[in-house]
Amino acid sequence: MKHIFQKGEEGNNKTLLLLHGTGGDEKDLLPIGDMIDPGASILSVRGNVDENGMNRFFRRLAEGVFDEEDLIFRTKELFDFLNHAAEEYGFDQNLVIAVGYSNGANIAGSLLYHYENSLAAAVLLHPMVPRRGVELPNLHGTPVFIGAGKNDPICPAQETIDLEKDLTGAGALVDVFWSNMGHQLTREEIDHAEAWYKKNVKGV
Ligand code: MLT
Repeated sequence: MKHIFQKGEEGNNKTLLLLHGTGGDEKDLLPIGDMIDPGASILSVRGNVDENGMNRFFRRLAEGVFDEEDLIFRTKELFDFLNHAAEEYGFDQNLVIAVGYSNGANIAGSLLYHYENSLAAAVLLHPMVPRRGVELPNLHGTPVFIGAGKNDPICPAQETIDLEKDLTGAGALVDVFWSNMGHQLTREEIDHAEAWYKKNVKGV
């Protein structure tokens, strides 16, 4: 997968896996990664799906309606890519923290729904429920931050409520930050994500 890797500071063994929104690319979330943990290594990936010239991490059938077969295939593709990248760049695979926005948050959520120990923690910015009616792996103690907008037309509030319920049911430690805004990222939610990260995400 197309990506950017930046080695972090000596002594910081965490890696932020940055996953952009629909129509974005691997450069989009670099400033956000820098705000959340400036010393961490960065693995920022470009989605492999092309939707009328827009990069995505998996296909959709309509706005908010996911192509489930492709979602499962692409989630495995990203999971395998993480394994390869950890070997190639020598980062600790047990200390990968996803930071995803919108479609990128949805594939990060899908990693959590499908693979045990795929992520040490996750910052999900405006995510939806990736799949319904499936049993999640054991996510015991996995810290997850969800940034949601009360007026988000793409991710209705119920999506956040259901996602929190699924993740908590699997043992994850979920914190939700609600803003009054829509689907856009806000400085306020990134500040909250950063404060949450400092408190909840530990290295070794
Ligand atoms: C998705 O398709 O993943 C969500 O609807 C969010 C987005 O528009 O990317």
